[in-house]
Amino acid sequence: MAKRKRILSGNRPTGLLHLGNYVGALRNWVRLQDEYECFFMVADWHALTSDYADPSGLELHTSEMILDWLAVGLDPERSTLFIQSKVKQHAELNLLLSMITPLPWLERCPTYKDQIGQMANKDLGTHGFLGYPVLQAADIVIYKAHAVPVGEDQVPHVEMCRELVRRFNNFYGEVFPEPQHILSPVPKMLGVDGRKMSKSYDNCIYLKDSRPTVQKKVRTMVTDPARVRRNDPGHPEVCSVFDYHKIFNPDEVPQIEKECRAGSLGCVDCKTNLGEKINRMLDPFREKRAVYQREPKRVAKIVQEGNLRAQTEAEATLAQVREAMHLPA
Ligand code: TRP
Ligand code: SF4
Repeated sequence: MAKRKRILSGNRPTGLLHLGNYVGALRNWVRLQDEYECFFMVADWHALTSDYADPSGLELHTSEMILDWLAVGLDPERSTLFIQSKVKQHAELNLLLSMITPLPWLERCPTYKDQIGQMANKDLGTHGFLGYPVLQAADIVIYKAHAVPVGEDQVPHVEMCRELVRRFNNFYGEVFPEPQHILSPVPKMLGVDGRKMSKSYDNCIYLKDSRPTVQKKVRTMVTDPARVRRNDPGHPEVCSVFDYHKIFNPDEVPQIEKECRAGSLGCVDCKTNLGEKINRMLDPFREKRAVYQREPKRVAKIVQEGNLRAQTEAEATLAQVREAMHLPA
């Protein structure tokens, strides 16, 4: 078999994973394992760039993230699951890349400008936060990844990574390949309150939520406000329950649309049905999560082996980098 191409992606451990994370990223990661050699990283250093003042949740969020990953089917037999801060080589490469990173690239990065403006409650005027894309570039190129599956918001970071690769190779010789981004198709999915699904809004359905919790959250979802009585004709296009059906219950969508418009389907029934479909999708994840949760030693071993494999690969690349930059081996 020809050597498979390599991908790397990561997630910041800032809280439990939710349905939006699943349909926006994880689901694709699981599929990509069939085609690529995959490295999946818990980006705990990246979490610190914004949460530096209160890192108390880091360990818990990291171990929960690993459990969520294993639960949805990231496969430690085929993929390398590891923790960024356990592979110190990322820090060394971050430092070396920072030498060649022009400040204006960082200052005009769209995520930087957005977040500085949005997160008024946190002081993001730090060296670490400005350098976020440099560390991300180090994460990617240290494995010589060919591709990086990300959401739309991360594309500028992968672009900056390519620019850094060109600059590096230009100064010191061809060491790194230029990585491509793989855009995950992200269906429209809002939180249960109709705003963006986000941990900070407390409007998420988490992958580890119990069956009754899922039903309870679905019941609070906003539907078509024009429907007061059960028989009022509905407008599925303005209803977020309907958007969820498109994702989690595609087969019944035409039927639901027809009955909603005709006023023959009540919102309560429609929601119960949706909750059940989500629960059926989550059931196998819950089972797998429970199995791993009962075997913490096994999980620890998976992570240790992942860290080790990542360290070995990262060290091999760094050896080439040091040589190219005339640093002692
Ligand atoms: N910045 C990414 C996010 O917030 C997380 C991340 C860190 C990442 N390093 C990465 C993603 C490397 C892809 C490749 O989602
Ligand atoms: Fe939304 Fe379903 Fe109610 Fe129609 S019947 S408004 S799709 S919840």
